[in-house]
Amino acid sequence: MKYHIALLKGDGIGPEITESAAAVLNAVGERYAHEFCFTPYLIGGCAIDAAGEPLPEETVKGCLASDSVLLGAVGGPKWDDLPGSRRPEKALLGIRSALGLYTNLRPAKLFPALRGASPLREEIVSSGFDILIVRELTGGIYFGERGYRTGKYGEEAFDTEAYSVTEIERIGHAAFRAAMQRNKRLVSVDKANVLETSRLWRSIMHRLSEAYPEVQYSDLFVDNAAMQLVRNPKQFDVIVTSNMFGDILSDEASQITGSIGMLASASLGDSKCGMYEPIHGSAPDIAGKNLANPIAMVLSAAMMLRYSFGMTAEPDCIEQAVDRVLERGIRTADLIGNTEIRPVSCTEMTAQILSEITSS
Ligand code: IPM
Ligand code: MG
Repeated sequence: MKYHIALLKGDGIGPEITESAAAVLNAVGERYAHEFCFTPYLIGGCAIDAAGEPLPEETVKGCLASDSVLLGAVGGPKWDDLPGSRRPEKALLGIRSALGLYTNLRPAKLFPALRGASPLREEIVSSGFDILIVRELTGGIYFGERGYRTGKYGEEAFDTEAYSVTEIERIGHAAFRAAMQRNKRLVSVDKANVLETSRLWRSIMHRLSEAYPEVQYSDLFVDNAAMQLVRNPKQFDVIVTSNMFGDILSDEASQITGSIGMLASASLGDSKCGMYEPIHGSAPDIAGKNLANPIAMVLSAAMMLRYSFGMTAEPDCIEQAVDRVLERGIRTADLIGNTEIRPVSCTEMTAQILSEITSS
């Protein structure tokens, strides 16, 4: 079968890591007789440079017409001084919203081979952890009313958070369904002791929990959740939370796995077409130097095969290839910590993953 994939390389290390992911998909296609056709579109800073805007209409149309979207990363110092509405990051929010991708799945799993790279003490991570953060992606303070006005102390800026019943229900169902397919434990994270949106969020999650009696449901305030993640990450299975809290907690969860360079994500809506991207950024400091860790991007491609194309053996094959490469001690620079290991380049890491895929 033929799959049409919109390839949004973006900025910084984006082009390097998307090239790795495309190579991995081609190898998997060869092995399992699928054809993946990639069509590149501009997004972020490179789109500002080439087309004068971070999210050209052609990119949105191309993504909407594709079977799925792979995205590298956007942003960089070159575009940091632009006004908010014209920054590369705006394109990311724009494309998430245009494609209706309200569910963001961010798995944070400790790879046994990388246990030593986790900043947490050995006794905390010795038995591993495997968390899925379900982040609401198209609502909340990221998309609320904002602006400048005159306030009590003169000129001020403001951002507002709004959540509708519908938005909370649909992300809640997505999270309960995810929990049903995993270890059937769900924690909803909010700030219901302070925020009105959180109080509505919590009451709806409680109501939904009655429809999923097998799921062991609880809620936590976000400050407590941030603390519990480093105190005892193993207590978590699935976490569901708002756009902003999910942004923050997913960076925290990624770092305790050893490197943010390992974590993939899937953004899904009501159709099969999703967007798959690493949770790390464009890393401008190492861009173009062949130093980036392509694993988060490669694992994002595996998530695409699983969630958008309904495959199982193929994403398993990619994930096992990554596991074996790590077991063999192969590390990009972000993964070596203060060991004596000689790091490999982005292309070398990719070549090692490819050889595991073709030889296994
Ligand atoms: C992420 C990123 C983005 C976000 C930025 C780049 C807009 O941090 O995907 O986590 O905040 O959603
Ligand atoms: Mg983030």
